[in-house]
Amino acid sequence: MEYYNIISKSYNELHKEEQLNKLSIIKANVKIGKGAKILDVGCGTGISSDFECFVVGIDPSIGLLRQNRNIKLQGVAENLPFKSGSFDYVISLTSMHNFSDIQKSISEMKRVGRQNFVFSVLKKSKKFEAIKSLIEENFIVESVVEEERDMMLFCKKHKLYI
Ligand SMILES: C[S@@+](CC[C@H](N)C(=O)[O-])C[C@H]1O[C@@H](n2cnc3c(N)ncnc32)[C@H](O)[C@@H]1O
Repeated sequence: MEYYNIISKSYNELHKEEQLNKLSIIKANVKIGKGAKILDVGCGTGISSDFECFVVGIDPSIGLLRQNRNIKLQGVAENLPFKSGSFDYVISLTSMHNFSDIQKSISEMKRVGRQNFVFSVLKKSKKFEAIKSLIEENFIVESVVEEERDMMLFCKKHKLYI
């Protein structure tokens, strides 16, 4: 997390183009209505929060959040300060490999989300296989898009949870 505060001023210059590409893949794969509520977990500067509906971002890095003009709060994926079932979509782009407790984060995202989830997971991360397995155990993976650096998984909750 300290890493992102250190590089915060150059984050957009370094990553904007690749993150916008991932955002356009989400928009091409899911039709999100203007009335939807989205939670962006690990929102950073807000590149990944650019949807035409109500979006809340959460991220621990104050340096990145200072550049984020959207609705956001400082916090971590492991402890989401929202009521269960608050969001139509929970998304997390290139952030999960940073989470200190990935299972707890997934449980939290599942709890606050109603049905739809999009996870973009960095393929070169040492934690990639573990993260992918946890997503597959916790959700129905409806489709997968292989982006250059990330694997993007479009998921739903198991019916038991809906
Ligand atoms: C590669 S950046 C992605 C930022 C943004 N999603 C984007 O697409 O530009 C990874 C983000 O994960 C955040 N992060 C690190 N640990 C976290 C945690 N425990 N909970 C939520 N976000 C975390 C970092 O602060 C950083 O903003």
